[in-house]
Amino acid sequence: MWLLFAASFSLAIAADSSDVLQYVNPLIGTDNGGNVFAGATLPYGMAKAVADVSGQNTGGFSPDGSNITGFSHMHDSGTGGNPSMGQFPLFPQYCPDDVIDNCQFPKYNRAVNPVLDSVVAKPGYFSLSLENGMQAEMTVTQHTALYNFVFPQNATSNGTALSPVMLLDLTDIYDTRQNATIIVDPSTGRIQGNGTFLPSFGSDSYVLHFCADFAGAQVIDNGVWVNNRAGTEPKQLFVTRGFNNFYLQSGGWVRFQRPSNGTITARVGVSWISADRACSNAENELPNPLTAFNATRTRAENAWRKQLSPISLQTAGVNQSYVENFYSAIYRTMISPQDYTGENPLWSSSEPYFDSFYCLWDEFRVQLPFLNIVDPSQVSRMIRSLLDTYQHEGWLPDCRMSLCKGWTQGGSNADVVLVDSYLKNITGVDWNLAKEAIVNDAENEPIDWKDEGRGGLQSWKRLNYIPYLDYDYLGFGTNSRSISRTLEYSYNDFCLSTLAGGLGSADEHTKYLARASNWRNLFKADQTSSINGTDTGFVGFFQPKFLNQTWGYQDPIACSPLTDFCSLTTNPSETFESSVWEYQFFVPHDMAGNIQLLGGPDKFISRLDYYFSSGLADISNEPVFLSVYAYHYAGRPALSTKRAHSYVPAYFNATTTGLPGNDDSGAAAAFTIFTMMGLFPNAGQNVYLISAPFFEAVSVTSPATNRTATIRSTNFDPTYENVYIQNATLNGKPYSKNWIGHEFFTEGMTLELTLGSNESTWGTSDADLPPSLSTSTGSMMYKMMF
Ligand SMILES: *[C@@H]1O[C@H](CO)[C@@H](O)[C@H](O)[C@H]1NC(C)=O
Ligand SMILES: *[C@@H]1O[C@H](CO)[C@@H](O)[C@H](O)[C@H]1NC(C)=O
Ligand SMILES: *[C@@H]1O[C@H](CO)[C@@H](O)[C@H](O)[C@H]1NC(C)=O
Ligand SMILES: *[C@@H]1O[C@H](CO)[C@@H](O)[C@H](O)[C@H]1NC(C)=O
Ligand SMILES: *[C@@H]1O[C@H](CO)[C@@H](O)[C@H](O)[C@H]1NC(C)=O
Ligand SMILES: *[C@@H]1O[C@H](CO)[C@@H](O)[C@H](O)[C@H]1NC(C)=O
Ligand SMILES: *[C@@H]1O[C@H](CO)[C@@H](O)[C@H](O)[C@H]1NC(C)=O
Ligand SMILES: *[C@@H]1O[C@H](CO)[C@@H](O)[C@H](O)[C@H]1NC(C)=O
Ligand SMILES: *[C@@H]1O[C@H](CO)[C@@H](O)[C@H](O)[C@H]1NC(C)=O
Ligand SMILES: *[C@@H]1O[C@H](CO)[C@@H](O)[C@H](O)[C@H]1NC(C)=O
Ligand SMILES: *[C@@H]1O[C@H](CO)[C@@H](O)[C@H](O)[C@H]1NC(C)=O
Ligand SMILES: *[C@@H]1O[C@H](CO)[C@@H](O)[C@H](O)[C@H]1NC(C)=O
Repeated sequence: MWLLFAASFSLAIAADSSDVLQYVNPLIGTDNGGNVFAGATLPYGMAKAVADVSGQNTGGFSPDGSNITGFSHMHDSGTGGNPSMGQFPLFPQYCPDDVIDNCQFPKYNRAVNPVLDSVVAKPGYFSLSLENGMQAEMTVTQHTALYNFVFPQNATSNGTALSPVMLLDLTDIYDTRQNATIIVDPSTGRIQGNGTFLPSFGSDSYVLHFCADFAGAQVIDNGVWVNNRAGTEPKQLFVTRGFNNFYLQSGGWVRFQRPSNGTITARVGVSWISADRACSNAENELPNPLTAFNATRTRAENAWRKQLSPISLQTAGVNQSYVENFYSAIYRTMISPQDYTGENPLWSSSEPYFDSFYCLWDEFRVQLPFLNIVDPSQVSRMIRSLLDTYQHEGWLPDCRMSLCKGWTQGGSNADVVLVDSYLKNITGVDWNLAKEAIVNDAENEPIDWKDEGRGGLQSWKRLNYIPYLDYDYLGFGTNSRSISRTLEYSYNDFCLSTLAGGLGSADEHTKYLARASNWRNLFKADQTSSINGTDTGFVGFFQPKFLNQTWGYQDPIACSPLTDFCSLTTNPSETFESSVWEYQFFVPHDMAGNIQLLGGPDKFISRLDYYFSSGLADISNEPVFLSVYAYHYAGRPALSTKRAHSYVPAYFNATTTGLPGNDDSGAAAAFTIFTMMGLFPNAGQNVYLISAPFFEAVSVTSPATNRTATIRSTNFDPTYENVYIQNATLNGKPYSKNWIGHEFFTEGMTLELTLGSNESTWGTSDADLPPSLSTSTGSMMYKMMF
């Protein structure tokens, strides 16, 4: 009854009643450093087609006003590091006087500005016009990009009618090509080949293969080009790096008779295995490219509708931009990781293979926890892929892209990913194998821990912290980040102890639970912090500690937004991409213990408030996420809500510039989603912190159980004055805890919140707080897990 009544005055959004795709705007976060991929892709798809710009091109396209250098078929989304992939771009041209040599071949010579207001970006579809009158639209299947290039009708020079020319460039966005081979078929114009490229945030190199076919017009002639010159002979070319690593621009071209409707259709298959495989991928997925476009687009749209279908909203007067912000963010969590199953040349296995975990340091906190709720069967395949990677490469990845090992960042956070999925009942995974892989991280130091595992394990085991300037002869890595590695390894070991306990291994449970308190060893109780010579008044901070157990020093504000950003590659410090101030709040498993160390709830809260209001908090990067909700642990859930509303939508909104930093594969997206849903996960634990949703009701149907969970507000206020929970019921019974477990989703519970304009006593008493290792409530809750 209530639902029917509510539906009569509020907009109900569900996949079956209105099209959710209208709320997805792939251009959100494509400017201002969000680096979001704006083009056409399937959920977790390998082919990702878009126009590449010369400006902010990390994800390919940005409406930043820079010119279009080509249309390429594979990308990453939201990443930092260097621009990723973007191989073998196509580019449509007319050559003046119809002389092929008159065309512009090199990337920045041929570039043309886009007509920005012509850009259409939708799930599974991207199109734009160029200032020279060319138009391009594109859609994809799993391994194939399909393009229609429309050449303007009136092209003549000196009275000669011009013929459409397509060129293909043996490059990627960042010009990392080492060598490449191209073969052009004289009769069909098929261009196929391969190239060796460098990963954007990792080691070694990778080979990618392609197969481009054209349809819609007769082929006149074709050939290859090198620098500014082209010819019809030869039909094959091998290029490599020349003297001084010189980069030779080169590729292939095909000239066509004028098609009646001006459209040349291009179908480009890609493969990690071989060019022949790239061709067969394309032939199997799109046997009739000339007539396939609309149906292919529709299939991609339907795939996205299905992905978005578990979540529906009652929006009750909320501005539509909030709905767009929400659904677009959900869409962005499923662009990567990328499913390369059947395409892995590195080892043979019947397990799934996912890539573009870019990087787990970003994804473990909220993105993968979100997918545990709405797409558990795909997460199961991702976890199996991580474990298969462990079995064949010897290590769980920390970061992985383009079949290469990415660089390790904070800890060994695949550990958290596995345990989060374990606690959320992801099925089909060999959890004993998962434990083995995590124990490997915890016990064995790799020779090169820049790529995997942990460094400093001898000290970790002997001293119970990662020393500043460690003496480590077992392995090699960037000998920095001793504070953040201590904090993250502590949490990684906590997660391991959880899994060990769950699997009945009491000894391992106890052993790693002990290590989970190692974070305490870097707390320097008398450390102060000043800004420009003025003492902030807060005492006690994490500090680096030498091997001989005496303290080193890192200014607590160093690496915060008030100073310089600390990057792994340019200026590593003792905290990774974040300050001591920010890492001070990173004890996810023992927030209560940390609060106690910092002087109790009131002092903790004034420290949190100072951190957020002084500019020390870096809202553009992942370590800040959980700290927004840390107030819950100090018995003040309303302050988390207030803080969350200060960031969404002011820093995370539905505009092209609507992200404060890189989306990081969908990590920033997932921060937005959980914040707007009113449930925020503490990844690696069965805990969601409760806050008021940004909509009157949010319903989530668990694909694992088909049950629907709903979180709904009475006194909902679309202007967000009434955002504070006054009281709550769970399945009709009073509920005062300020957190809830994943059973909420799998069992399909209903959480009803009554909202008001002021903080209340709801969720504030000791018994209402989420579990923490060192509190009695916490350890009781914790014991209940076994
Ligand atoms: C395209 O932009 C790049 C810089 O982003 C510039 O170097 C190049 O000259 C431009 N090319 C054209 C044809 O405008
Ligand atoms: C050709 O057509 C385009 C639009 O289709 C127009 O912008 C351009 O001015 C025309 N060029 C000539 C030479 O007529
Ligand atoms: C057109 O013809 C003129 C005179 O023959 C010549 O200078 C010019 O290069 C030709 N091409 C174009 C594109 O104008
Ligand atoms: C291509 O480049 C890769 C990476 O630099 C190198 O290992 C390989 O030997 C090169 N291949 C050829 C045929 O030169
Ligand atoms: C690239 O293609 C050429 C020509 O087909 C082939 O000889 C070569 O082995 C391929 N390279 C790789 C790394 O597959
Ligand atoms: C262009 O015309 C050809 C037939 O001449 C047709 O097969 C193709 O689908 C058309 N392309 C578009 C985009 O309408
Ligand atoms: C494809 O869809 C577009 C509109 O989205 C329509 O204009 C076009 O006629 C369709 N083409 C075919 C071949 O059905
Ligand atoms: C510190 O002082 C400098 C120079 O006066 C000023 O530019 C900067 O904003 C100050 N920083 C803070 C955090 O107050
Ligand atoms: C401890 O080691 C640090 C770094 O090597 C050194 O500066 C300091 O003097 C040592 N302290 C003692 C007490 O040995
Ligand atoms: C949207 O977010 C961006 C990035 O954080 C921010 O710069 C901008 O001010 C926000 N816009 C609005 C209208 O809040
Ligand atoms: C959920 O419902 C779908 C569609 O009715 C069905 O195919 C699927 O087996 C159900 N799953 C479970 C876990 O009941
Ligand atoms: C996981 O499955 C077990 C056994 O079926 C069940 O008792 C538990 O509630 C489930 N947990 C979650 C989070 O769904």
